[in-house]
Amino acid sequence: MKVTVFGIGYVGLVQAAVLAEVGHHVVCVDVNADRVSQLQQGIIPIYEPGLTPLVEANVAAGRLEFTTDAAAGVAHGEVQFIAVGTPPDEDGSADLKYVLAVASTIAQYIETPKVIIDKSTVPVGTADKVKQLIQHGLRQRQQDIQFDVVSNPEFLKEGAAVSDCMRPDRIIVGTYDERPRDTIRELYEPFNRNHEKLMFMDVRSAELTKYVANCMLATKISFMNEMANLAELLGADIEAVRRGIGADPRIGYHFIYPGCGYGGSCFPKDVQALIRTSEQHGYKPEVLYAVEAVNVRQKQKLMQLVQRHFDNSLQGRTFAIWGLSFKPKTDDIREASSRQLMEQLWQAGANVQAYDPQAMEEIQRVYGVRDDLTLVGTKEAALKGADALIICTEWQQFKAPDFDLIKAQLKHAVIFDGRNLFEPERMQRKGFAYYGIGRGE
Ligand code: NAD
Ligand code: UGA
Repeated sequence: MKVTVFGIGYVGLVQAAVLAEVGHHVVCVDVNADRVSQLQQGIIPIYEPGLTPLVEANVAAGRLEFTTDAAAGVAHGEVQFIAVGTPPDEDGSADLKYVLAVASTIAQYIETPKVIIDKSTVPVGTADKVKQLIQHGLRQRQQDIQFDVVSNPEFLKEGAAVSDCMRPDRIIVGTYDERPRDTIRELYEPFNRNHEKLMFMDVRSAELTKYVANCMLATKISFMNEMANLAELLGADIEAVRRGIGADPRIGYHFIYPGCGYGGSCFPKDVQALIRTSEQHGYKPEVLYAVEAVNVRQKQKLMQLVQRHFDNSLQGRTFAIWGLSFKPKTDDIREASSRQLMEQLWQAGANVQAYDPQAMEEIQRVYGVRDDLTLVGTKEAALKGADALIICTEWQQFKAPDFDLIKAQLKHAVIFDGRNLFEPERMQRKGFAYYGIGRGE
């Protein structure tokens, strides 16, 4: 099948590579000429496990191409994916300018029947807007070409994006009518073999499903963070509580890990966007307000622990930070808890010595060169001469460190652990002042 994907970010590039891998011929279009040129030269602009060999193999096989030529992109695919960003607007609602720009492009160049698939996360009613824009464009061009708009939200997780796309839990498809269903079935057939994963529904429900899924997951995290703070006050250990509640299959173990707040390009923006959507319809979403507020507060948690330990005297101190990405196995630092922490430390006059296995280039790109930020090549180098260690991301390589070395390198044997990697009692026995999240006072 001939497929075009607009937007070669985390979602578009992974989806395109996976579709090419199963045999579709995929042309990717992006307005970012640097990104397209990098990909044409075989440079993969994002870190995602398993992605590089997949892209290389499919480019070599002639099934995966990259271009800035939107007209050629529209001409190529009977299926046209919209996989561009939907960042938060000033008021928190989803900014649809990139999605609508792609719709206008399709309206400008469409010559043959198309199924237009909205993969981006978009508020309810966006497919209607895309449809209207294309209808309007066709009327202006005095053309009558058949097209369908379908909502097909993406549920992949960064760090596991390739395997999530290869083996999706479910494929949600919102359509206005029956017409595009055969095309969608054919497109996803290779991913739908073992049991039926395709779930057809109306367009609005499909659009809402995406937001409800992300907001439910964010709610679980904020609830656990709230309980962690309470456990701390009560002298209880949230990790014991987590295991205790997770054993109930009605609750389950997923997404109940307390920590230094959720980040990434999706939960923060999608919770805010659903809040705005609710408000625009005259409804106050009390649970979502709380989810957001708890997360904002939780992202200050590490800084509060640091300030308390050092009696608010941080001027001139140096802190080692392990982990800068918003979660392990990605180089993505959008809304990462580490960033808020670093910015607060800088404001308090402290220096940061940081290490991350993948995200340091991104941090350098965002913050540039500054005296109070040193990015180092190993986790051990980050410790040298620092006043304390702060862990923001649970990369595997941080889970069993050489504690003697940590002690020898740090000025003070203090660890602030935003991901609860270690047991407080063991850390105490090793002679550390150890602060986790919700592990009792
Ligand atoms: P991204 O920012 O990584 O990539 C978006 C790409 O779209 C960029 O390369 C940009 O240059 C390109 N673009 C912008 N306007 C364009 C246009 N007119 N034509 C062609 N290309 C254009 O975004 P992302 O993280 O891949 O997210 C894309 C969408 O998918 C968002 O709505 C997001 O909420 C959703 N989503 C993201 C994830 C994730 O884990 N990142 C998971 C599920 C859903
Ligand atoms: C999330 C969803 O999991 C995906 O299903 C969805 O497609 C995606 O958003 C999206 O719409 O973009 P992602 O943001 O890549 O995926 O990463 P998650 O694994 O969900 O983690 C998000 C944040 O929550 C991270 O900062 C992580 O540290 C935090 N988290 C996660 C916790 O604090 N506790 C947990 O138990 C789980």
